[in-house]
Amino acid sequence: MTLTPEQDLLHVRDGRDIWAFDLYSVDQLSLTDLGVIFEIARKFREYKTHKFNLAKWNTQINCFFENSTRTLASFDLAAKHLSMDTTSVWGSSSVKKWESYLDTAQTLDAYNAKVIVIRSSEAWVAQMLSRHTAASILNAGDGWHEHPTQGLLDILTMLDHVWSDNLEWKLVTIVWDIMHSRVFGSLVRLLKQLWATVRVACPMTLWPAHVENFWVEMYTNVEKALTWVDIVYALRMQEERGATGFIPSLREYSKMYGISKKRLELASKNAILMHPGPVIRDIDIHSALSAVDEQSHILKQVENGLAIRKTLIWLMTQRMDGKTKTFTRK
Ligand code: CP
Repeated sequence: MTLTPEQDLLHVRDGRDIWAFDLYSVDQLSLTDLGVIFEIARKFREYKTHKFNLAKWNTQINCFFENSTRTLASFDLAAKHLSMDTTSVWGSSSVKKWESYLDTAQTLDAYNAKVIVIRSSEAWVAQMLSRHTAASILNAGDGWHEHPTQGLLDILTMLDHVWSDNLEWKLVTIVWDIMHSRVFGSLVRLLKQLWATVRVACPMTLWPAHVENFWVEMYTNVEKALTWVDIVYALRMQEERGATGFIPSLREYSKMYGISKKRLELASKNAILMHPGPVIRDIDIHSALSAVDEQSHILKQVENGLAIRKTLIWLMTQRMDGKTKTFTRK
């Protein structure tokens, strides 16, 4: 008997769930949770053009207090592919009128949304709001802190590349603006959870305080950091978070740390290149490498992002109880 895509997804899930009612940090996820998320995401990816009826009649509100291209499009399309009603609001318009984050979120919660996606320039906004809404809160990036769905889509891309369910014995180098990167915040936690060996390469001025607590190897010489690694992960210089005050100039920084074909050749033969986007061409990564080179997995990351977000949204909309019993109004 051939299963419909819906039946296939239900079969893969088969009653399995993740523990969290919201997702504001990857620290909330156990190894078992990661296994469930990646298995369901791969199944969603298989049916990438199918419109599922798995979350029909549910509403998702994307509340972005800070700009986004791929994360907003991806969360919105993911919900639509699950047949949800969606709307997107620029939360900054409320905050500019002196409304608090909390009042904005509770206003949106009163529309009976099942999921509210939050992006903010400040850390911990999603976690704080999750205590006050009946809707599940999904963190789409909070300040310099975390970007959990980005971390999950990055790890899915890596696991597919290495054909394994962990990253033991794998060398991953993360280059560029480590200090201001919430992508780094989620990625390094997940990499360590999956036993990867992590190197970071940037000037000392861009090392975040206590980065050594993640048990990463720190390099200021990018050539040494790239030698023999399996995965090269380039970040963006985050000018909007004041990063350029920590380097002489973008041009000089790019000369010292930008990923060129020659630098990529220092990595192992089958190494892949990743970047969360948006790429600053010829600054973070040389143009010739950015999306088209066969070593570049940047567009695979984007595709995996849709599958990961469908997975999390679906799991969150399936709650019959739980959060509504425990949440507190102010
Ligand atoms: N990777 C990422 O978060 O991109 P956006 O800022 O475009 O959402």
